[in-house]
Amino acid sequence: MYKFIIEGDRELNGSVRISGSKNAVLPILAATLLTNEQSVLHNVPDLADVKLMLEILEELGCKTSFANGTVVVKPIDISRTLASYELVSQMRASFCVLGPLLANRKRATVSLPGGCVIGVRPVDLHLKGMRELGAKIEIEHGYVHASADKLVGKRIFLGGNAGSTVTGTANVMMAAIFAEGTTIIEQAAPEPELESLAQFLTKMGAKIKGAGSHKIEIEGVENLTGTEFTIMPDRMEAATFAVAAAITHGDVTLTNVVPEHLFAVLEKLNEAGAEIDFSNNDEIRIIGKDIRPTDIVTFPYPGFPTDAQAPFVALLSVASGLSIVTDTIYPDRFMHVAEMNRMGANIRKQNNSAIITGVKALSGAPVMGSDLRATASLVLAGLVAKGTTEVHRIYHLDRGYEKMEVKLQKLGAQIERAEYTPRRRKSDRQAA
Ligand code: EPU
Repeated sequence: MYKFIIEGDRELNGSVRISGSKNAVLPILAATLLTNEQSVLHNVPDLADVKLMLEILEELGCKTSFANGTVVVKPIDISRTLASYELVSQMRASFCVLGPLLANRKRATVSLPGGCVIGVRPVDLHLKGMRELGAKIEIEHGYVHASADKLVGKRIFLGGNAGSTVTGTANVMMAAIFAEGTTIIEQAAPEPELESLAQFLTKMGAKIKGAGSHKIEIEGVENLTGTEFTIMPDRMEAATFAVAAAITHGDVTLTNVVPEHLFAVLEKLNEAGAEIDFSNNDEIRIIGKDIRPTDIVTFPYPGFPTDAQAPFVALLSVASGLSIVTDTIYPDRFMHVAEMNRMGANIRKQNNSAIITGVKALSGAPVMGSDLRATASLVLAGLVAKGTTEVHRIYHLDRGYEKMEVKLQKLGAQIERAEYTPRRRKSDRQAA
């Protein structure tokens, strides 16, 4: 396994190019199953999750290649319809192959993804949408078996108790591509990644209106063709580097970004004291100043994103006062709190909130990542902490941040990747 060793308390300065978006490319890769022709994607980030999705596409009979940011997918054996537990259980987004398989290959057997460390994460809304289009859905032995000789467009309400669903909207939108008539998804997720998926599908020949809003209309078409497409910039990588600039009192310009996607994050960063300049179209400059406390509540887009919650907890842990950060999307997504407290932070978790009393300084310590954004937040804490921080289990980070340590090094951080053999933890020994 690998860990990061960080010597903290250094300002970050310079510019960093933001990579292609993980959460945009994953459903787009699934969407390549909607055509029997070749798809070519550019600006694809080199991430563990992308490689896993390519493995799933191979399992589903596609030939794939990935070099220099370009992915080529060519379906060869379209009789394959099984996405196995071994692969799907490693990444929830892979459940997005269900809709395209059902639409284009008329049937699909896809493992249920299961829960994960950030919460229960059901897929009931994905299945509801497909049932309403006319699919027969059965769950047996941990697998979803879906089939339909013909799907028929319908008005579908896709809201759940926690609001809209991002990958659920993607899945149902893709399932409806060849449905007879018009499908209307009400309470659709309005995230920019879905707008980007709709742009890709439209380039392939789909007829979609309203993506990026709460109401998406899909008029069924006969077939889709292969196409070439460029993946949008990753707004969560951008948010993470923006916090890195602010937390280290640095001066960093993010390039290849869409400032509009980041308004809620930039607003809070500004409230927390950072100076922000986005007068250039695809750049944002962040100048770190004294860090002020602020309260944050996560919401679906365009609200403050749950994926930026952990990075902001790191930032506010060194603010000059009391902040409350509430996650309405994933109430249990606070695994980073205990690790940050090991670094001298003063954070209390209460229900779905972190109550943060800012401290003057964090002190470097060995800490452990638990999921993608929590691990990123520990790296951010390590960048500002006095002394050495070791962040273990960075395989979580490699799922969603392209060459994070190389980008941070270019900005002046002292961070190294080192191999280590994990020891059994005390709790494992007790359980054994
Ligand atoms: N939900 C349901 N039923 C469903 C689906 C979702 O009740 O069928 C609930 C969830 O439990 C949650 C809420 O709805 O409370 C929103 O979940 P959503 O389905 O929108 O999440 P997701 O599509 O599984 C995507 C991102 C996540 C991000 C969330 C929320 C991708 C590949 N993943 O997940 O990204 O946190 O939306 O914005 O797009 C990450 O990148 O670190 C990450 C976890």
